[in-house]
Amino acid sequence: MAAMAAVGPSSAIIEVKAYSGEQARWYCDQLERGKVIFFSEVPFEFPDEDRKFLLSQKQTGSRFHKNISYRPAKDILKGMASGAEDREHLQRVLRTFSAELTRFVTKFLAPYSGKLKLDFASFRPLEEQGRDLPLHKRNDLLHVDAFPTRPTHGGRILRVFVNINPAADRVWNVGEPFHDFVPRIMGSQKIEPPQRSGFARAFARVASRVGLPVPDRSRYDEYMLYLHDWLKENSDFQQKSPKFELNFPPGSCWMVYTDGVPHAVMSGRYALEQTFIVPPDALVSPDAAPVHVLEGVTHQPMAS
Ligand code: SIN
Ligand code: FE
Repeated sequence: MAAMAAVGPSSAIIEVKAYSGEQARWYCDQLERGKVIFFSEVPFEFPDEDRKFLLSQKQTGSRFHKNISYRPAKDILKGMASGAEDREHLQRVLRTFSAELTRFVTKFLAPYSGKLKLDFASFRPLEEQGRDLPLHKRNDLLHVDAFPTRPTHGGRILRVFVNINPAADRVWNVGEPFHDFVPRIMGSQKIEPPQRSGFARAFARVASRVGLPVPDRSRYDEYMLYLHDWLKENSDFQQKSPKFELNFPPGSCWMVYTDGVPHAVMSGRYALEQTFIVPPDALVSPDAAPVHVLEGVTHQPMAS
């Protein structure tokens, strides 16, 4: 229990100490309802030499201006100069990380297996505290995630993090889950993205199908992007909405639906992360999904 108190309150976070296949559905449900699932140690194979290699990037840290992303489906690394000597090594480390983590998640969250869509992974070597970023890109402000270039059409964003920093916690704030705070704030104020014409939407759909770099956004995706920005802009929400501090210690691992749990990273450097898109038909508690909540409060169809 002592370790638990150091991480965060049980209303926001559940620590996994031992698990069996029978609990898989319960963990899916708890995640979907806005809990962070926490492991004090990485629950899958993660070689110590890989961790050391990632940390050794410290010496050449000035090379990193932003996070490095890895796209498992295409085996592509982004954010590191193409001539960089350690590039291939880094790619190999992220490839292995992504594969081992995915194997674990498929087992731990068995109801999702065969339905998870593997999205990007990332290496986050920069100190988060005091990063100088434009408002909408700031991650130290509470927000829910939405990807401008990868619409999900109601699918959910599940992310798994590892703090590979040997010395410092990664510190987050998290807020109340989507199904609690969104009906409340949308009940008292109008939060609505501009309506696009049917023509604009049909055009985007066709363009994206023929491979043009135009995201085919549903009404849901427009709402989530709008809400992401709205939350970061809204100082009342930032200051007054209930939040909990979570301290993720060195070597720990956690997973969370970042489209449903408002989160902000306050400090820490050296994290690894893998994102999955969980399609609506894989969810065990679809009533808690943002798409369902938005349909309820707006009385509009969202995902079609
Ligand atoms: C985020 O999704 O806001 C970033 C969280 C982190 O890097 O710890
Ligand atoms: Fe985020």
